[in-house]
Amino acid sequence: MSAPNKSYDPVEVEALKPEEIERMRDEALAAFAAAGDLDTLQEAKVAHTGGASPLALANREIGALPPHAKAAAGKLVGQARGAVNKALATRQTELEAERDARVLVEEAVDVTLPHDRVPAGARHPLTTMMERVADVFVSMGYEVAEGPEVEAEWFNFDALNFGPDHPARQMQDTFFVQGADGTKDSDGGESGVVLRTHTSPVQARALLDRKAPVYIVCPGRVYRTDELDATHTPVFHQIELLAVDEGLTMADLKGTLDHMVQSLFGADMKTRLRPNFFPFTEPSAEMDMLCYVCRGDSVGNPDRPCRTCSSEGWIELGGCGMVNPRVLTACGVDPEKYSGFAFGFGIERMLMFRHNVEDMRDMVEGDVRFTRPFGMEI
Ligand code: DAH
Repeated sequence: MSAPNKSYDPVEVEALKPEEIERMRDEALAAFAAAGDLDTLQEAKVAHTGGASPLALANREIGALPPHAKAAAGKLVGQARGAVNKALATRQTELEAERDARVLVEEAVDVTLPHDRVPAGARHPLTTMMERVADVFVSMGYEVAEGPEVEAEWFNFDALNFGPDHPARQMQDTFFVQGADGTKDSDGGESGVVLRTHTSPVQARALLDRKAPVYIVCPGRVYRTDELDATHTPVFHQIELLAVDEGLTMADLKGTLDHMVQSLFGADMKTRLRPNFFPFTEPSAEMDMLCYVCRGDSVGNPDRPCRTCSSEGWIELGGCGMVNPRVLTACGVDPEKYSGFAFGFGIERMLMFRHNVEDMRDMVEGDVRFTRPFGMEI
């Protein structure tokens, strides 16, 4: 800023000459008009209205003028600044409107377009069913135990008191795995290694691995030499339960089974036991549960036939019994001190009657039209 000067004449101060002011104004107007977007306009705004802009500097010169000259110079600069600010505001509004219109077009979403989102996957109903059953026991303090699917014949059969000539060992039921040397195998079944035919070998493994008392639940895949058809599959799933402790009786087995079916099918559910034979339990039983559809009402009631249980009132679930003392002995547990109960059943069967699945092949074919109605449980 120039120093105050009595003879200071605005016409002689370069920055305050009318044509200079006009030029500054016109330059500002031209810069605003040329700004094609809000960022450029912002730069022009700083350059032409900011503290270091020519008009702001000219304005400061006014302070140094003698009083009689201040008014005219002030009017001149004020008018120019007013015009500049107005032009700036107008251009700002125009550019904002342009931007808004562009955003509306660019970010428009066509809700009628077909979507290309990959649907979220979900676990197979067999898996969720198995976990649901296992959870019932985990909540009672049981541990989940696992064993290998390629299993030693000893665990699959011998430890469980299957005699050497038991029919289950035959080739027509059991997949024998070829020995590493390739010599013994498929037609003699002498490799000593099988694909486990049930989850019961995990009982023997658990007893050998842990010290009694043992409470385990074992879900897993098992194999048998069946052809795939509506009611058979060579690979299926079982869940096995084993409890070994002091003083366990068949009443504990029955109570545990009732608790399981009540947790899974409703509070009014119950089970019944029918005598049976398994080498690894003594006594052994077949366990049935009340038909969860008719609750037994269809029995002797031709007006209310039930397809699920063929009007028998009960559905066969699996096998169970008190652990044979020979199994305890084979696994290093003293049968004088400990007793135990066990049961095992097929998950596919349970899924079939719980959800009216009529063909087992639907469970293995992987068609989402089968799995989708089970929901997106993960
Ligand atoms: N492992 C038997 C099967 O596959 C089922 C079974 C029966 C399991 C009795 C048990 C049991 O634990 O006690 O047919």
